[in-house]
Amino acid sequence: MTPETHTGLESPRGVWWKPAHKSEKVWVAIAFVWCMVLFAMMPLWHLKGGQNPSGIRRKVDPQAFYQRTQEFIAQYKIGEDRGMPIVAPPPGSDMYLTGLAFQWTPILQLEKDKEYVLHLSSLDVNHGFSLYPMNVNFQVVPGYDYGLRVTPTEVGDFRIICNEFCGIGHHIMVGRVIVVDGTAETAVSAGGDR
Ligand code: CUA
Repeated sequence: MTPETHTGLESPRGVWWKPAHKSEKVWVAIAFVWCMVLFAMMPLWHLKGGQNPSGIRRKVDPQAFYQRTQEFIAQYKIGEDRGMPIVAPPPGSDMYLTGLAFQWTPILQLEKDKEYVLHLSSLDVNHGFSLYPMNVNFQVVPGYDYGLRVTPTEVGDFRIICNEFCGIGHHIMVGRVIVVDGTAETAVSAGGDR
């Protein structure tokens, strides 16, 4: 046998069957410990991370939810923005926001530092609720009513972006949330010029 010829019938030449070097064992141990840390973080983050939905969840008929949204709009509508109703529910109330291809209805006008229960659902397919520029993301699934307890902490004019691909108009599916200071004069009107 010369060094140049080698077939699968012969044992390979090398040192892989010899005990691993100490430094290799150390690195394997470090990698293993790190795996365990990450593994433990999954349940730990679930309990301690403060990232879980703050509310309730139940099954709902998509049509019934949409109907409820329309009633909510009729009850608290204060204006329109390019045909989209602007709704200003009183603090503490239940709000209904429906995602459908390809819009979020209605526009919500909320008061800063007041708590509301935001009910989210979809009329048709999965949508993704993403409040821009805040770091708030939520899956919106047809057939499920997600009631999230929300308290706006900042005055502003926010956008809801759909972050779940839902069809040909996915990229134009943009909604709007307006947060006003309830103690100031800004609460009186919602312009349709923006
Ligand atoms: Cu709705 Cu993408």
